[in-house]
Amino acid sequence: QTDIPSVRDVVREFPVGAAITGAETVTQHGELLAKHFGSVTPGNALKWDATEPSEGNFSYAQADPLMSFAKAHGLAVRGHTLVWHNQTPAWVFTGADGQPMTATAEDKALLLERLETHIRNVAAHYGTDIGVWDVVNEVIDENQTDGLRRSSWYTVAGLDYIRTAFRVAREVAPHAKLFINDYNTNVPAKRDKLYALVAQLLSEGVPIDGVGHQMHINVQWPTVTETKAMLDKFASLNIEQQITEMDVSIYTGNGESFPAPPADRLLQQAYVYRDMFALFRQYPGEITSVTLWGLADDNTWLDTFPVTRKDAPLLFDTRLQAKPAYWGVVDPT
Ligand code: XIL
Repeated sequence: QTDIPSVRDVVREFPVGAAITGAETVTQHGELLAKHFGSVTPGNALKWDATEPSEGNFSYAQADPLMSFAKAHGLAVRGHTLVWHNQTPAWVFTGADGQPMTATAEDKALLLERLETHIRNVAAHYGTDIGVWDVVNEVIDENQTDGLRRSSWYTVAGLDYIRTAFRVAREVAPHAKLFINDYNTNVPAKRDKLYALVAQLLSEGVPIDGVGHQMHINVQWPTVTETKAMLDKFASLNIEQQITEMDVSIYTGNGESFPAPPADRLLQQAYVYRDMFALFRQYPGEITSVTLWGLADDNTWLDTFPVTRKDAPLLFDTRLQAKPAYWGVVDPT
């Protein structure tokens, strides 16, 4: 559809982006990306298992084609992600003795050294081409009193892995905005634990520039009011906020499965996109970008997680045609 407005021309408060995987730049998805979006996030290509599959062997083969595409089309790039507990090879957490690392001083030193080497190489490789990094991803577990996820990172290095990651990223990429990214940040218990952590780290002088809200939501959850409470809470920290992985599942529970997206769900979804974008646009200068976790419904991570069923969470359908959700963003009347 060449006749429809570009999302980029309609939403001017912040760049709107999309995540892409693999070969999407060379298919029609690339045209869709270049027409509608101002930013792109490599969905998997910058994760540790892609960039340093074995120790000291850095590989940019997955991400570089996306980077060239972004450059050719003037798209900003969100770097996702330097430190995560998933999609990280086992060697990272294996000690010098070949055993899984534990909370010893020796293992901790080795892990932080690997972390530093990784960030130095990856962030330096891209230099100023990546203006925003998700430095750490999903570090919060609201069921822990201290709010920190018991990942291998935490178990071996405690909070120091987060401090080290931000300090090294700032040193190697001083131009880049450094983000802490997480999901369910609208849930008060989780939101407040994340807030407390960021406030503490900022008071220590750890260089955090922004909070990323993934926003993997569905057609009935969360409400705009809850989402507003989330944005207002973090606004008091005077750092940036970005919506980093938005998609709106048509399913409201794990038991549901539809052979094709029902019309009423697609309409509900359009209202969610409309209302959420209207909310985001009320924070110009504070919300500095909004990224959708995919381009079109033919390629969405929700088809494999949490269960195998066809979802339809994005603005364009499996044939890359604009959905009601697209019109919710572009023509909110
Ligand atoms: C997902 C990718 O989209 C999938 O292709 C991959 O198999 C698993 O990871 N939160 C994140 C993203 O921060 O990195 C995840 O991306 C989705 C959830």
